[in-house]
Amino acid sequence: MRLGVLTGGGDCPGLNAVLRGLVRRGVQELGYEFVGILNGYEGLILPDLTMPLGLNEVRGILTKGGTILGTSNKADPFAYVTKEGGVNVTKDMSETVLKRIKALKLDGLVVIGGDGTLTMAHKLGQRGVNIVGCPKTIDNDLSGTDQTFGFDTAVNVITEAIDRLHTTAEAHQRVMVVEIMGRNAGFLTLEGGIAGGADFILIPELPYEVDKIVSRIQEMYEAKKKFAIVAISEGAFPRGGGQAVAQKAEDIPGRGVVRLGGSGKVLADLLAPHVEAEIRVTVLGHLQRGGTPSPMDRVLATMYGSMVLDLVRDGKWDHMVCLRGGELGFTSLAESRKERHVDPVGDKVRMAKAIGISFGV
Ligand code: F6P
Repeated sequence: MRLGVLTGGGDCPGLNAVLRGLVRRGVQELGYEFVGILNGYEGLILPDLTMPLGLNEVRGILTKGGTILGTSNKADPFAYVTKEGGVNVTKDMSETVLKRIKALKLDGLVVIGGDGTLTMAHKLGQRGVNIVGCPKTIDNDLSGTDQTFGFDTAVNVITEAIDRLHTTAEAHQRVMVVEIMGRNAGFLTLEGGIAGGADFILIPELPYEVDKIVSRIQEMYEAKKKFAIVAISEGAFPRGGGQAVAQKAEDIPGRGVVRLGGSGKVLADLLAPHVEAEIRVTVLGHLQRGGTPSPMDRVLATMYGSMVLDLVRDGKWDHMVCLRGGELGFTSLAESRKERHVDPVGDKVRMAKAIGISFGV
């Protein structure tokens, strides 16, 4: 069995741990051979973007963030953007991908990615490619699994950031707004906010009301807790308003979706006229995606990397590995790649509210 392996979409801690788990089991236990495809699907669209992927290549990478294969969130085989005569042209390159898979003599492809990457994987599967998937993203927004690797590490970064913001907020009696990634899902903000002891958690699933936040801040300052920490998702927005967009989809050739950013500044501007205390905004940005994976993500990523080979061995193509109720399992790519959201009336939100955390609603 000769398998191509690619990492697609935004990187996250644990990608290398997956590669290590995959190659170590594949080579040692199953006698498989691996070919590393570079820069996501780009490595199947453009020539000469492969590398050997054996035991030597995966040695010492367990603790490394990023991905030794490189990645791209702009290389869709079905809508690939290239420049022709100085202008952007979108092309369906799926035929080229199929030919390259054949030329590389691959029996199958292991795709490690989030919803975009796995959607493309499923579409290639429908064109006859043997594909299995592995769910990655710090956002934890894939419907097919309770947890993606990368999420836990990002929650750790967010928690530490909020811890640090507490001390400076208190010293200056300020309102500290911290903007957190996650696209349209509030999992990172919810978990990081609870773990960090934020006073407010504002998520896309619950559009916030400015007057509710203002009156709560006033109550807090009157009750002598003279600082406030507001954890806000990049995708959160005021009721009746829209998301803060850093870059429109049409300005990012090949990406197909907007880049969010600026929700913290929007909130600060809305609060400023009504709040006496100084307001400062911290955008955590890509700090949440960088660095070494947490022990939990190393374990999950290693398990996913190793377990995905059960699917290959059993010919269970068009499936991905997942975690359900604490157990490793698998699910069909058709179902699993859909976007998942925080349940606004779920236990975590209810219990956070019960201990006095405001969602601004
Ligand atoms: O999906 C992961 C993620 O980090 C999102 O939370 C964020 O909206 C997006 O990627 C940022 O993408 P980029 O790295 O292209 O700025």
